Amino acid sequence: MSAPSTYVPKSAFGKWFESRLPVMGLLHSSFIVFPNPRNLNYFWTFGGMLAFMLVAQIVTGVVLAMHYTPNAKMAFDSVEHIMRDVNYGWLLRYLHANGASMFFVAVYVHIFRGLYYGSYKAPREILWILGVIIFLLMMATAFMGYVLPWGQMSFWGATVITNLFSAFPVVGETIVTFLWGGYSVDNPTLNRFFSLHYLLPFMIAGVVVLHIWALHVPGSNNPTGIEKKTEKDTLPFHPYFTVKDALALVCFLMVYIWFVAYTPNFLGHADNYIEANPAVTPAHIVPEWYFLPFYAILRAIPDKLMGVLAMFGSIAVLAFLPWLDTSRVKSANYRPLYRQFFWLFAVAAVGLGWLGAKPPEGGYVIASRILTFYYFAHFLIVLPLLGLFETPRRLPGSIAEAVLGKGGSASAMAAGAAQSPNTKG
Ligand code: HEM
Repeated sequence: MSAPSTYVPKSAFGKWFESRLPVMGLLHSSFIVFPNPRNLNYFWTFGGMLAFMLVAQIVTGVVLAMHYTPNAKMAFDSVEHIMRDVNYGWLLRYLHANGASMFFVAVYVHIFRGLYYGSYKAPREILWILGVIIFLLMMATAFMGYVLPWGQMSFWGATVITNLFSAFPVVGETIVTFLWGGYSVDNPTLNRFFSLHYLLPFMIAGVVVLHIWALHVPGSNNPTGIEKKTEKDTLPFHPYFTVKDALALVCFLMVYIWFVAYTPNFLGHADNYIEANPAVTPAHIVPEWYFLPFYAILRAIPDKLMGVLAMFGSIAVLAFLPWLDTSRVKSANYRPLYRQFFWLFAVAAVGLGWLGAKPPEGGYVIASRILTFYYFAHFLIVLPLLGLFETPRRLPGSIAEAVLGKGGSASAMAAGAAQSPNTKG
């Protein structure tokens, strides 16, 4: 339901150019007149923030790479050189390191928004699966980026995670040797991680283009989960959503800059300011905060191979979500039971994150096992069954009705709200 291009170039050059490469028309129909559901809330502003953060990470990363040396003997010192000698090098590095964290904050809100409002359901399955692919690429990029400063956590994090592949029978050892480019994490490992860390963000950018393309076929879902039907249900992207997205982005950037300016190492680990030393293993090897829930799942399972499969499975299961959730109704606003299970799942995910930072012993392991079980049960048991047994609340007739009431005007909304509060989204 993309709007047909109504773009009319004003200048003679514009007309000449547009008839040869209609890119302005494409941008105009996609980001100016595109009809968005009128009831989108602020959770729909995170996609725009993510696009901004991807560009910010690429720009700061490309400039950092001009001063960084991907060599095991020089990498640590080259990062110190960036921090101390390069003009505003400290700012670039802190923007990039904290930018990665903010990117993950935004992506987690974006994913949980999708889970709450059922945005993964038909007709948005491909859009969702492209999102899961982006998420995997983001994790690979962040993991390899963390290795580059060649501190103790870089080195030992890389050693632990790459070693996981040795759990696969027969081919495991070969895979690990191939990943390392040798028989331990060393210079060839650093070289290939640098190369891939530079490459992957551009691949993410490519998948993001497909993601937004797939989004623009049905258009955005919305808090009611009902599809847009008439013009009354929508508002043009500009100025309504450009302004809303810009306001949200400014608030988000304030938090980001607050971290960079006041506590730039809060989200990092002190051990990474010690140069990598293969002879000294740190007491606790912990990944960055955004990997902690998956790290907890990995360690919850006593068998190494099963742990690795569970960790990858916990992300892979997301790709099947459109078919695991059997409910006809999308939005949790109209699914009283699902809403409760959603919050239970959110608590389990945060709990796993907390446990991922704890040592793998005693009660922590037992709690990790319970929450890991619940994580999978949510997708494989709760969602398939809930759709069969849950009685959803009555849906409004249209998006316009949910926002404006039955008559479709603001005064009708007041009357409608007084009569039936349940029809509001
Ligand atoms: C670089 C990362 C990403 C970027 C730049 C991005 C960008 C966007 C944008 C601009 C939108 C439209 C605005 C909005 O709904 O917020 C969107 C929608 C969406 N994204 Fe993403 N996204 C990213 C990652 C993801 C991930 C990891 C997932 C899921 C695993 C995902 C799932 C979705 C879904 C389901 C929608 C449609 C939401 C709806 O209409 O309700 N995205 N994305």
